Amino acid sequence: MQTRKLGPFEVSAIGLGCMNLSHAYGAPVSAAQGERVLLAALDAGVTLFDTAALYGFGANETLVGQVLSRHRSRFTLASKCGMTGVDVAGDGKLVRVIDGRPEAIRASCEASLKRLQTDVIDLYYLHRWDKQVPVEDSVGALAELVAAGKIRTIGLSEVSAATLRKAHAVHPVTAVQTEYSLWTRNPEIAVLEACRELGVAFVAFSPVGRGFLGGNLQDVNTLDAKDIRRNMPRFSPENYAENLQLLPSYLAIAKEAGCTPAQLALAWLLHTGKHIIPIPGTTRLEHLQDNLGALNVKLGADAMDRLEILVNEKTVTGKRYNAQGNSEVDTETF
Ligand SMILES: NC(=O)c1ccc[n+]([C@@H]2O[C@H](COP(=O)([O-])OP(=O)(O)OC[C@H]3O[C@@H](n4cnc5c(N)ncnc54)[C@H](OP(=O)(O)O)[C@@H]3O)[C@@H](O)[C@H]2O)c1
Repeated sequence: MQTRKLGPFEVSAIGLGCMNLSHAYGAPVSAAQGERVLLAALDAGVTLFDTAALYGFGANETLVGQVLSRHRSRFTLASKCGMTGVDVAGDGKLVRVIDGRPEAIRASCEASLKRLQTDVIDLYYLHRWDKQVPVEDSVGALAELVAAGKIRTIGLSEVSAATLRKAHAVHPVTAVQTEYSLWTRNPEIAVLEACRELGVAFVAFSPVGRGFLGGNLQDVNTLDAKDIRRNMPRFSPENYAENLQLLPSYLAIAKEAGCTPAQLALAWLLHTGKHIIPIPGTTRLEHLQDNLGALNVKLGADAMDRLEILVNEKTVTGKRYNAQGNSEVDTETF
């Protein structure tokens, strides 16, 4: 297995995003299927597993804990706090809340540790910077968790280069996790460079473009009613129809490179920077194997150039998040 450096850890160059086993793209998979995917990833040499307190409001961490805790020494475990399910109305119904207050972070960590059935989380991200709380305070709370031995390292998600620098001054940041793929280039404005300069790893989430770059999502009307992509502008039927126009040329480049569409998306990321670690998510064993096959794909300068020109912020139609989602992130946007 090829590896990349993630702070003090040496992890598989492609990790596994566990989110969609419990959350986001329709109904959660069965516990048996979740177990099959997680164990197959471990057996295939994946050593970075990514979850969050948010996913399935704890259900994803519970699944990861149940299946992987007995193999704990074999992988780097990443989870996230600062955006969780909270019973706001007191009626037992959990709603998604961003809360970066130190006391919320401490409570979230205790709950994560319990669900994950572990004594320590290797990399604990602030899932979103809570704009009501100075990032220094949230990172200060994470630094205390490091000192207490409850987490090993600190990460941030969806932050700007400026916020990364402020946080890094409080405590070294090990990784920034942000959406990055051919069709989401925001990190290229400043975050990728800031990470390189500070020695911070960059973990690319949604590296297969939430399915678009996998090439087989042709009709967004088939998405589950609860699929979060239904609220994302570039997946609206009108915008997606425009985006599908990019696919034939994209598929042609994949064919020339001798790889599948998803492998092309992942290989592009791996070739873009040595500090980039993609974490594709899948519910299927065949896609898991397919994604890991990207490690063997070699892209020449010509293919890289053609991809850059073909799929980028100017050629993609529709923003990645709706107004609410945009207001919650701190990334520079095109
Ligand atoms: N920090 C954050 O705010 C944040 C936000 C979103 C995600 N994440 C993390 O990033 C991980 C990955 O992101 P993601 O799941 O949103 O996006 P992704 O990996 O870009 O795409 C997942 C989608 O692509 C499909 N897919 C995966 N491999 C494929 C292949 N080889 N061929 C064709 N289709 C394929 C999957 O369907 P199948 O199930 O059918 O394979 C799924 O619908 C998550 O699990 C989570 O850990 C973090």
